[in-house]
Amino acid sequence: MALQLGDVAPDFTAETTEGTVSFHDYLGDGWGILFSHPKDFTPVCTTELGTVAKLKPEFDKRNTKVIAISVDPIDSHRGWVPDINDTQSTTVNFPIIADPDRKVSDLYGMIHPNASDTMTVRSVFVVGPDKKIKLTLTYPASTGRNFDEILRVLDSLQLTAQYSVATPANWVDGQDVIIVPAVSDADAEAKFPKGFTAIRPYLRVTPQPNR
Ligand code: BEZ
Repeated sequence: MALQLGDVAPDFTAETTEGTVSFHDYLGDGWGILFSHPKDFTPVCTTELGTVAKLKPEFDKRNTKVIAISVDPIDSHRGWVPDINDTQSTTVNFPIIADPDRKVSDLYGMIHPNASDTMTVRSVFVVGPDKKIKLTLTYPASTGRNFDEILRVLDSLQLTAQYSVATPANWVDGQDVIIVPAVSDADAEAKFPKGFTAIRPYLRVTPQPNR
């Protein structure tokens, strides 16, 4: 069965461009993002990896480690990284897993045979400090992902983890958030000292608590 939200992200040990990595050890006590790439030396993947390298300080700020994977072998990754650096004007600063036997790709269901039986789709798994899967995304090979959206989702997930809030449609960091229905009005008054507005009894908004 496909991995679902709330499942423990399966642990694995794999060869990467930064040496052998054990996934859970690599994540430590923080958050993690595992994202797959269909193939080395391909244009969309090259732009994605360059984008993530440039955003690394943003992931660091969110206590989040990133790790990429493709089914190509380590020598191929090592040949490709200088191209990414050169064409995207950056330095790849996170590990890329080599998965020629598809051990990790199969573990995470990243190969969708009716899309391609040789390449992974573009999967994203966001993993929380408890090692549980908090979010999954699946894009086709032809569509590069929006990593600003992945940062936005991380902000939302981390707010939810820290406070009893959810985030509305198209929310971005700094905007009002929603008090989850499980919190009573009395508890909300204590928990959210900036106050809240009840637009409906079930729709209560409050300024972002950590701002
Ligand atoms: C790409 O990264 O450009 C790509 C990879 C596999 C299939 C199609 C596009």
